Amino acid sequence: MLNSWKNQHPATTVLRLWLGITFIYGGWNKATDPGFLDQGSPHYIGAQITGYLSTSPIDFILKHMIEHATLMGWGVMITEFAIGFGVLAGYSLELLSLAGVGLSATLWLSATWSVKPYFLGSDTAYMVLWLALFLLVRGGKSGRNKSKLISGLTDRREVLRLAGVGVLGVVATFSGRIFKNSNPNPESGLTITTVATFPVGSTMNFQAASGEPAVLFRTNAGVFAYSAICTHQGCNVAYDSGKNLLKCPCHGAEFDPAQGAKVITGPAQTPLASIKVAIKGDKIVQI
Ligand code: FES
Repeated sequence: MLNSWKNQHPATTVLRLWLGITFIYGGWNKATDPGFLDQGSPHYIGAQITGYLSTSPIDFILKHMIEHATLMGWGVMITEFAIGFGVLAGYSLELLSLAGVGLSATLWLSATWSVKPYFLGSDTAYMVLWLALFLLVRGGKSGRNKSKLISGLTDRREVLRLAGVGVLGVVATFSGRIFKNSNPNPESGLTITTVATFPVGSTMNFQAASGEPAVLFRTNAGVFAYSAICTHQGCNVAYDSGKNLLKCPCHGAEFDPAQGAKVITGPAQTPLASIKVAIKGDKIVQI
């Protein structure tokens, strides 16, 4: 492990330190965010993905991820940790650098695609840094080894080491979930409407803090809201006041807002994500 830091180009040292530490921090940041896997939070990974649908060029892929957003969230955290630990340890640097390129490219095409001009979004820079690390590591190999594109996959010890950083990624992710911080909604208090203009019995569409479309209800029991993104494949649901259901125009899924937006008619399998709202003074806010 320590040997991997000797006899390498200073640029490789800088890149390994920066990328390794940053990816571990990225994993920790998500793992300690109580909202990241909480369907009612504006930080929920599913809410983030749905927010990207209107701008991302890979929306046709993202919409299939919505149904499995929580699983994706676990995968992203574990992968970020594993890549970070592996790069610092010096295991299969080529393979992990390419994984870094892939992850950064995916984040660019989804999370930061709408950032203009492009250089203000950091994912493009990370994609290039990972590519530079790949080329540096590959350039430093002897001719024979160079012919193996991914040497880590042909060496049993290297495969075991990679499995080890994967396990370390799982342990770090669970540790982060245990040490979740106490600031779940830093941008809480987003005003949706006023109490006076939204009497009991009202329904309205609004844009949630994550950018996703949402539907707000007020009954005698109080106010509640759901994401309008269908959990099947991401179409926008609409409220049918005749049936008192939220209906999806794409494949006919129906959700009951009076029962936590549970599925009444498929093909959707999971309820719509709930969005936390409350009456604060004379306003109705997302919290
Ligand atoms: S996207 Fe298929 S039912 Fe909504």
